[in-house]
Amino acid sequence: MRLLIGSLAVTLSLALAAGWWFWQSPANDDAATLAMDSPELLASIASGQVLYAQSCAACHGANLEGQPNWQSPGPDGLPLAPPHDESGHTFHHGDGLLFDYIALGGQETLSRMGVEFESGMPAFGDQLSEAQIWDILTFIKSTWPENIRAAQVAQTAAEQVAQTEAEQAENGD
Ligand code: HEC
Repeated sequence: MRLLIGSLAVTLSLALAAGWWFWQSPANDDAATLAMDSPELLASIASGQVLYAQSCAACHGANLEGQPNWQSPGPDGLPLAPPHDESGHTFHHGDGLLFDYIALGGQETLSRMGVEFESGMPAFGDQLSEAQIWDILTFIKSTWPENIRAAQVAQTAAEQVAQTEAEQAENGD
């Protein structure tokens, strides 16, 4: 755990120092070099905004504000849909986890991580293409202030470090 926090702190400061930009995602390496007003990025945000309204807004709110009183459990005892704006915790998660959460749903994602958790977050992998899921994430990120985007980029980097370490441990290196 201390190691994890240590590497998190290192990657966080590295990312902040480098001023990494938010659209750097595994599926989007080229996009890392795009200017803020590049047509590709704007198209991805526009597509993500439409898809968000169609597939996500009913639970996560038209303005990404989450369900009312989302911090308390719902009537069925399960967690409510949190906001995706900076008042929530979406930016605490790296791109890999966010992508899986949307594609596989909450329960399956967590159970693959060995966590038992009943989640009301449905799977969208059958309805949305990978590109569409990245568009939605790009749209969500585009609403965040720069420091929040930088924190999430650092989280993605930390997630990748942890994954590489886990793979190496598994291979006995
Ligand atoms: C039927 C309601 C519902 C819909 C529709 C829905 N979600 Fe969720 N979502 C939830 C609930 C409830 C949670 C909280 C439970 C959990 O975290 O597992 C959640 C959690 C999440 C999380 C993890 C928490 C976080 O902030 O990081 C992400 C990411 C997410 N949803 C993204 C989406 C996206 C993107 C869409 C649209 C493609 C969507 N959700 C559609 C109900 C929904």
